[in-house]
This record gives sequence, C-alpha cells and structure tokens, in this order.
Amino acid sequence: MTADQQQAKLVLEGLSKRYGNFTALEQTSLTVQNGEFLTLLGPSGSGKTTLLQMVAGLTEPSGGRLLVDGADWTYRPVNERGMGMVFQHYALFPHMTVAENVAFPLQMRRLPAAEVRSRVEETLRKVQLDKFSHRFPKELSGGQQQRVALARCFVFNPNVILMDEPLGALDKALREHMQLEIRRLHKEYGTTVIYVTHDQEEALVMSDRICVMNHARVEQLGSPHQIYANPETLFAATFIGHSNVLKGKRDGSDGDFAKVRTASGTFSGRDMSRTRSDEVALSIRPEHMRLGEAPTGEFDSVRGRLTDMVYVGVETRLLIALADDSIVTLRHDVATGDLPVIGEEVVTHWPKAAARVVA
Ligand SMILES: Nc1ncnc2c1ncn2[C@@H]1O[C@H](COP(=O)(O)OP(=O)(O)O)[C@@H](O)[C@H]1O
Ligand SMILES: [Mg+2]
Repeated sequence: MTADQQQAKLVLEGLSKRYGNFTALEQTSLTVQNGEFLTLLGPSGSGKTTLLQMVAGLTEPSGGRLLVDGADWTYRPVNERGMGMVFQHYALFPHMTVAENVAFPLQMRRLPAAEVRSRVEETLRKVQLDKFSHRFPKELSGGQQQRVALARCFVFNPNVILMDEPLGALDKALREHMQLEIRRLHKEYGTTVIYVTHDQEEALVMSDRICVMNHARVEQLGSPHQIYANPETLFAATFIGHSNVLKGKRDGSDGDFAKVRTASGTFSGRDMSRTRSDEVALSIRPEHMRLGEAPTGEFDSVRGRLTDMVYVGVETRLLIALADDSIVTLRHDVATGDLPVIGEEVVTHWPKAAARVVA
C-alpha cells in the first residue's frame, strides 16, 4: 500500500460487478482522500450507481476489495457502515415533522435528548430551515425537502456521505442553488463525499476530483481543471465542456508533439492518450481557436467554410465545416474584428501546445 492509500478514507482495489455475463462495473481501483469531494460523472448506464452501492454495502461486489480507514469492509453489512446517503427521491418520513426527520438518525444512535435537540437545531440553521422545524414534508417545496434530506444526513456526522443524483428532480435554477449549498455544507463539515451525477457542469462546480465513467469503467480521474485542460480520452474530451475533434491516425512526432494525420491536414498536439492505438483524435477547445492564418510555426491552421454564426451574448460562436464535413466551433469576441459572412472560406488557427491527442 502506498503512503497515499494509508492516509486514505476509501480504497477500492479492483472492485467489480457482474450480473450473469453482463459487466456493470469493470475492475476499478481508486483512492478517496479524507474530506475529499469526489464525483462519479458519466452517462446513464455507465456504472456510477453500481459503484456507489458497493461502497454503501447495498450491492455485493463480484470481485475486489473495499478498504475504509485501512480496514477491509468489502462484505461489512450496510447497517454497520454508518454512511450517510442522499438519493434523488428524498425518502423523508411523511408522518414526521422536519425536526423529527432530522432527529431520527440521532435517536437511532441513542444520543441523549438534549444533545439531539441542540444538534437538530444547529443543523436546521445550517440548511436555513430553522423556521420550518414543525412542518411536515408535504408542506415543503421540493428544494426544501431535499434540504431536510441533507440535514438528516449531515446531522449524525457520518464517516462518508454518498449522494446519487440528489438534485435530479429539481428545476435548473434550484439545482444550481443547491449545488452551492451542498458545496458549502461539505466545506463546513469536512465529510468525505462521493457524489453521482450525469451533469458535467454540476461535476465541475462541486468536485475536488471527478471520476469520468463510461461503459462500466473509469476513463479518467483528476481535478476539474486537469480533466478539462488535459483530457486523456476522446470520451473525456467531449463529455466535459465542448471540444473540437479532428479524427485521424498517428503520424510520427514533431519535437514534444505527436502528429496526427486527418482528412483536413496533419496537425500536432500533446499526447495524452494512454494507449498505443493508431486511431487517435485531436481535441482542441473552442477558446483556443482564432480566425486567420497561423502567425508562427507554433500554430496549426485549417481551412473551412463558415456555415453558421450563433450569438450568445459575450461572444459569437462560429461554426466552420472542414474538408471532411466535420464541424469545428470557435468563439469570436466581437471587439477583435469584423465577422466573415456565412458561406465564406475562412482559416482558423490554434497553438499546437493547446491541442491534445486522445484515444
Ligand atoms: N440488478 C441488476 N441486474 C442487471 N443489470 C443491472 C442491475 N443493476 C444495474 N444493472 C446494469 O448495470 C449497468 C450500470 O448500471 P448503473 O450503475 O445503475 O448505471 P448509472 O448509475 O451510471 O446510470 C446498466 O447497464 C444497468 O442496466
Ligand atoms: Mg444511476
């Protein structure tokens, strides 16, 4: 075990799940640090809930181990794990008031009545529901109900909190508000959190690290910035933020850069791929592309035809069709010059150092 893993809250060692001959989660190894906010991000069916449920003890792994604070918890019963859980459907007790709902986990643990009262009050203040303590769940809005569920979870100071798409049922404005609320609660309590979402923006806003999942496996694990700036796979590059993708084949190297031959030309980029596969793609973020010829040899450029312009307030997005009919998007700051007209031949350039080779 590495020093990192000895300090860790959770260590997954090759944890996997099969249903018959269907693999819901390939062998997965990862480490979650004490107090960390880790998000499992991926499309529906990628294995996020499966992974979370094995950590919770609700699903038995087919292989591998789960360590918590260094001890083997792979087969520990769920009720002995003391983990907090919040799901999309809040599962509040309808016949109990807000205060009674939040007190419930403390009463289960047989805490003295005076302590229960003071901890419930304090927690309800933290989620701004102290004025609602005598209401019943049906007398609250969806957002308020979800805040009760959060309070009921944070109140007993669980060693780990697991959240599975907890904001999925809320509308966009409320969801964004609750994202910041959960972030604040996490900072205040310092609890280790594993959070599941399929919403990349939510993952970027909330997480210390993001675990990008696809097809039952981890594609990449890193900070939001690492994943946005240095995606290692085509999936990670396109699932998080917008990427312009030029598909092609490896074609040698150019100093520190790998070269990729595409239908629109041969271009350079930093090689992030972990495979030696010949089929690769260049990923270039729209903010790195500019109109005009490459000013120096440190840039690559490509010709295309302007097919559309989309005005989005601070900028205009230009859609450019390349020789192979693939489309790249770039952002044009209105202050930087005149816009071409639709149908016009244009050239766009980007720094080679901003292009990523992914597989
Ligand atoms: N009990 C089960 N029996 C059979 N297949 C399952 C079961 N639970 C989940 N799966 C399958 O495992 C895959 C991963 O599911 P899940 O972890 O729920 O994905 P996610 O949470 O990322 O949407 C899916 O294809 C799902 O249909
Ligand atoms: Mg799920």
